[in-house]
Amino acid sequence: MSDAAVTKRTRRAALGPYGQVGKALGELDDRLGVAKGGRSFLDKIFPDHWSFMLGEIALYSFVVLLATGVFLSLYYIPSQAIVTYHGSYLPLDGQRVTQAYASSVDLSFAVRAGLLMRQMHHWACDIFVGSIVIHMARVFFTGAFRKPRELNWTIGTTLLTLAIVNGFLGYSLPDDLVSGTGIRIAYSIILSVPLVGSYLGFLVFGGNFPGTVVLERFYILHVLIVPGIIIALVTAHMVLLVRQKHTQFPGEGRTEDNVVGGPMFPVFMAKTTGFMLIVTGVTALLGAFAQINPIWQFGPYDASRISYAVQPDWYMGFLDGALRIFPSWSFHSFGYTIPLEVTIPAVVFPGLVFGLAYMWPALERLVTKDHAMHNLLDHPSNRPKRTAAGVAVLANLSMLFIASSTDVIANFFHLPLNTVLWSMRILVLLSPFVAYPIAYRICKELQATKGGGKRKTANVVSRTTEGEYVATPAPVYVDDMKDELHPMQVPTFITDPTPEEPDDTGVRTVER
Ligand code: HEM
Repeated sequence: MSDAAVTKRTRRAALGPYGQVGKALGELDDRLGVAKGGRSFLDKIFPDHWSFMLGEIALYSFVVLLATGVFLSLYYIPSQAIVTYHGSYLPLDGQRVTQAYASSVDLSFAVRAGLLMRQMHHWACDIFVGSIVIHMARVFFTGAFRKPRELNWTIGTTLLTLAIVNGFLGYSLPDDLVSGTGIRIAYSIILSVPLVGSYLGFLVFGGNFPGTVVLERFYILHVLIVPGIIIALVTAHMVLLVRQKHTQFPGEGRTEDNVVGGPMFPVFMAKTTGFMLIVTGVTALLGAFAQINPIWQFGPYDASRISYAVQPDWYMGFLDGALRIFPSWSFHSFGYTIPLEVTIPAVVFPGLVFGLAYMWPALERLVTKDHAMHNLLDHPSNRPKRTAAGVAVLANLSMLFIASSTDVIANFFHLPLNTVLWSMRILVLLSPFVAYPIAYRICKELQATKGGGKRKTANVVSRTTEGEYVATPAPVYVDDMKDELHPMQVPTFITDPTPEEPDDTGVRTVER
């Protein structure tokens, strides 16, 4: 045996079974004492179901938003000062535009990878809000919001609100014809708030619309304040998730008091890292190949112009639709005007929808008198009333979303705009009342069908010598067998050698 080999082996033995990494972590633990907590964190058990990935899509698209957003902030100029455009996009040459618009067009044509980053950022935002909504629907329809997770539901609803608000703020920044019109609508919505509207408008815009400061303010809100609050709330959301442990669907070995799944390390970490790469990759592909928000085609904002087929980003569609179809009602009295045509669809209605979302866990508890802890999820068909109520709200919001395209529908089907407008009014009003009973009925039917949704096994019918017919279930097919593994009890690796004994004074001593 050579000296070198001996030295190597002795060095390895001195380092312990985990080598340099283990030694470095050991040194860290001597100072911070994180090994015990870290070990139990890495051993944490996560239940597995495809629908639990929806929250992860939200998380990772937010990471993509932060990364691409930092890139954009290096080039975007939040200024409403007017400049003459002489950039690389020749059709705009010589036009008087705001610096914000000029810098956004430059980002698209003059900055290397700028257009890719802009488009990835925009796609990531649409995916972010979309995955939050579907994740929220999963939590709602499976009853994951019930005790003890009501607080996480409330944090989640706030996150959805902030995601929509921040999407709108970012969408406004390029100051193109479409986004400028959006800011104009937002200004009118603020003005329509009874009593305080005009003061609020002055506060936000620093004067009358458009003023000279609104883009600067939107910028600070969009890149600093709202993302900061979102990061804080997502952290709280995740801490609560780990603390309360994830829910699980009923199944082999699963009870209200246990968690059946794979450990955080390596199973969950490998899956979730792969998933993060997939979300980033898909967003990059969309950013590279699917055009989104081509602001150079829209042109700069000009209050006197608006073009056909201008729709907001999808998550603002319900609000735009509500504004389009609401009748032109207003209230004038005591020297005040309340434009009900704006106040009701754009202030009262969203207030009711989000208010209902915040209140739902409490309302359901009130009606069902169910105050028990729930770690096992519901199958949506087993809760027909809740499911039908959720479907009714979604049907109503979907109709409002469609109503945000009245101009496109009228043009496409060669119909008068007024016919489309009236049809959408009727559909919006009827949709929840049609959707509720249908969803309720389907749930009841699914409940009545044993093994509903699964492949049924045949019955073998035979006749006895007495003439009696007997039905016996046919033997199960191999692929009809349960594909779930038997859960194993996790051994306790960490034992506390010194259980604490309280002394007479009530003072406790802990080892450092
Ligand atoms: C920025 C937005 C959000 C992010 C990044 C996020 C992320 C996550 C993740 C990764 C999970 C664990 C996996 C899963 O169950 O899907 C989770 C669970 C949960 N989320 Fe969210 N979420 C967000 C918004 C929301 C919203 C809008 C709601 C509802 C209003 C909500 C309510 C919940 C609840 C109650 C759980 C626990 C579910 C359970 O244990 O089954 N979240 N969230």
